[in-house]
Amino acid sequence: MNVLIIGGGGREHAIAWAVSRSPSCGDLWVARGNAGTARIARNVDLRETDAAAIASLCRRESIDLVVVGPEAPLVAGVADALRADGTAVFGPGAEGARLEGSKAHAKEVMEAAGIPTARGATVGSVTEAAKALSWVGERVAVKADGLAAGKGVVMAPDRETAIAAVKAAVEDRVFGDAGARVVLEEWLEGEEVSIIALVDGEEVRPLVPSQDHKRAYDGDEGPNTGGMGAYAPYPGLDAAAVESVAETCLRPLVRELDRRGTPFRGVLYAGLMLTADGPRVLEYNVRFGDPETQVLLPMLASDALELFAATARGELAQCEPLRFRPGAALTVVAAAADYPAGSARGDVISGLDGPDDRGDALVFHGGTRVGEGERPETNGGRVLAVTGLGPSLAAARDRAYEALAGISFPGMRWRTDIGHRGLGARVAAREE
Ligand code: AMP
Ligand code: GLY
Repeated sequence: MNVLIIGGGGREHAIAWAVSRSPSCGDLWVARGNAGTARIARNVDLRETDAAAIASLCRRESIDLVVVGPEAPLVAGVADALRADGTAVFGPGAEGARLEGSKAHAKEVMEAAGIPTARGATVGSVTEAAKALSWVGERVAVKADGLAAGKGVVMAPDRETAIAAVKAAVEDRVFGDAGARVVLEEWLEGEEVSIIALVDGEEVRPLVPSQDHKRAYDGDEGPNTGGMGAYAPYPGLDAAAVESVAETCLRPLVRELDRRGTPFRGVLYAGLMLTADGPRVLEYNVRFGDPETQVLLPMLASDALELFAATARGELAQCEPLRFRPGAALTVVAAAADYPAGSARGDVISGLDGPDDRGDALVFHGGTRVGEGERPETNGGRVLAVTGLGPSLAAARDRAYEALAGISFPGMRWRTDIGHRGLGARVAAREE
C-alpha cells in the first residue's frame, strides 16, 4: 500500500513510524513532514489544506491511502475532496470535522445523541450571556466557538470574569471570527483523561486511555500549550471502564452522525472530565492527539496501517480485536525556549546521531527541519517528543527522561513531572 500522511508534527512522525513498520507499507510520503519523517519517508512540500495539489500527488504516485494528522485540512474538507477523487482517506469529511471546528455544533450533536456533558449554552452577545449565566451557573468555562489554536477557553470563577471573557470574544473579537459565538459551560471538577478511538462510520474501537499535560510548566502551572507530555494507559480507567465510556460517550455520537447522513471515518478523540457523577465529555477532536499519539501508537501491538486502511474502507469490524503491548509508554516534549508564545528556530540539535527507534525509547520529531549538511535543526514550537516504554509507568518515565538527557539544543525546555498524576507522585518544585 502506498501511503501519504498529511501534517508535519510529532503526531505525524509517530504515525509515519507506525505505518512504516507494517509489512503492507509500500511507498510512504509525508506532506510536509519534518526532519524525522525525512528519515523514513519522502517529504513533499505541499500546503496541508491544498486539496487539489494533494489529489494530484495521489494520482501521480498511485497513493492507496491518505492519513490526515491535523484538524485544519479535515475542517477544510480535504478528506471529502480526496474521497470524491476515489482515494481512501483515514479522517472525517468537513461535516464530521465540525465536531472539533465548532464547539456550539458539538454541543448540539451531543445533546441530540444524549451524551453526558457539562450543562451549557451558546450565546452571541453579552446580554444573552448574562441571561444564560443564571441557569448555567456562575463558575463557568467560556469557550470560543471556532478553532482558536487551543487558546479559546477561559475558566471564569465568577460572573464578572465570565462576562468580561464573553465581551472580549464577541465584541472585541480577540479570537477573530472564532469567537463570534461562545459556549458557556458549567465548571466541572475532576481528573482529565482522553479516550481516542478508531471509528469506521459504525464500528468504534477505543485505544488505551491516555493523559495529556496541557500547561507549560511543572506542577500544571503556566500557559496552556498543545501538550507538553503524555502517558498511557491512564491507570484510573481499566478496560471495562474504557468500554463503558465508548458505550456512553462515543457510540451514541457515531450513531447520531450516521443518522444525519454524515458517517464519521477516522479518529474520534473524547476529552473527558471524570467527575464524581461519572465521565463528562469536555470536547471532541476529530484526529489523533499530539503528543498522545507518541504514546498510543507505540502501545498498539496490532498493525496500525491495516487498521487505518480498514477504518478508511468501513471494514473495521472485520479486524481482530486491537492488541496492546503490556506496560506503559510516556512521552516528554522538548520545546523551544519561547514556546508557546514565539517560535525560535534554526538551532542545531545535538544527540540525534543514534537511531530514532531505540527499542524502548523513541525520538519523535515535531518542529524540526533538515538544515545545512542534512543535519536536523529546530523549526519552532514543540521540537521533539521522546517516548519511553517500560513494564510500568515509572519505568517508562525513567526511560523517556534518560533518552531525553542525551539530547540538547539551545533553550530546550521540558517538564520534569510528566506522568505525575498517574504515578501519584508529589509534584516537584519547578527548577529555574
Ligand atoms: P477544551 O478545548 O474544551 O478541551 O477546553 C480546554 C481545557 O479547558 C480543558 O482541557 C479543561 O482543562 C478546561 N475545561 C474546558 N471545559 C471545562 C469545564 N466545563 N469544566 C472544567 N474545565 C474545563
Ligand atoms: N494534546 C491535545 C490535542 O492534541 O488536542
